[in-house]
Amino acid sequence: MIRKARIDDVKKIHGLLMHTEEHEALVLPRSFSQLYSHLRDFVVAVDDNDDVVGCCALNIIWDNLAEIRSLVVVPSQRGRKLGRKLVETCLSEAVTLGIYKVYTLTEAPDFFAHLGFVEEDMEKLNQKIFLDCLNCARFPDHCNEVAMIMNL
Ligand SMILES: CC(C)(COP(=O)(O)OP(=O)(O)OC[C@H]1O[C@@H](n2cnc3c(N)ncnc32)[C@H](O)[C@@H]1OP(=O)(O)O)[C@@H](O)C(=O)NCCC(=O)NCCS
Repeated sequence: MIRKARIDDVKKIHGLLMHTEEHEALVLPRSFSQLYSHLRDFVVAVDDNDDVVGCCALNIIWDNLAEIRSLVVVPSQRGRKLGRKLVETCLSEAVTLGIYKVYTLTEAPDFFAHLGFVEEDMEKLNQKIFLDCLNCARFPDHCNEVAMIMNL
């Protein structure tokens, strides 16, 4: 099941973002402070015991622009459409908010292409660069992320 994140989920979300394997796409860790203040951005996938097994966030950037970030599904639950459902729930929320352009910066572009995102020139996402990239240790020479965008 996919549901909005709750305060009790924060420690599990933090763990999911901290513990992706080295061979996997990079998912930026987030501090507890960032997770608490952005908790309303998050949806989570939960198992039958209501334990969090995946998460994804929709971050509003500008008047018609939002970012999907912090997407992770625990390895044991992959391949069961949870990643797709998490992203689709965030896209649906964007439409509800009146936001029709959603992008992600990712090291897993094939997954997002499979869901209908298309590659975008990173330079066109200048609001994002101003907000986050300038403070990222990997910017600009060690960034392996690809910008993928979907017009809804
Ligand atoms: C990427 C990730 C979220 C996918 O989660 P998942 O629950 O296994 O994915 P789903 O089962 O929902 O897959 C949905 C569709 O995408 C396809 N897919 C899954 N991973 C894919 C990949 N790496 N490349 C291309 N297609 C992929 C599936 O075959 C499925 O296709 P279908 O719906 O047409 O049958 C998961 O592998 C993960 O957490 N990876 C580590 C972190 C990461 O890469 N995060 C995203 C980038 S920042």
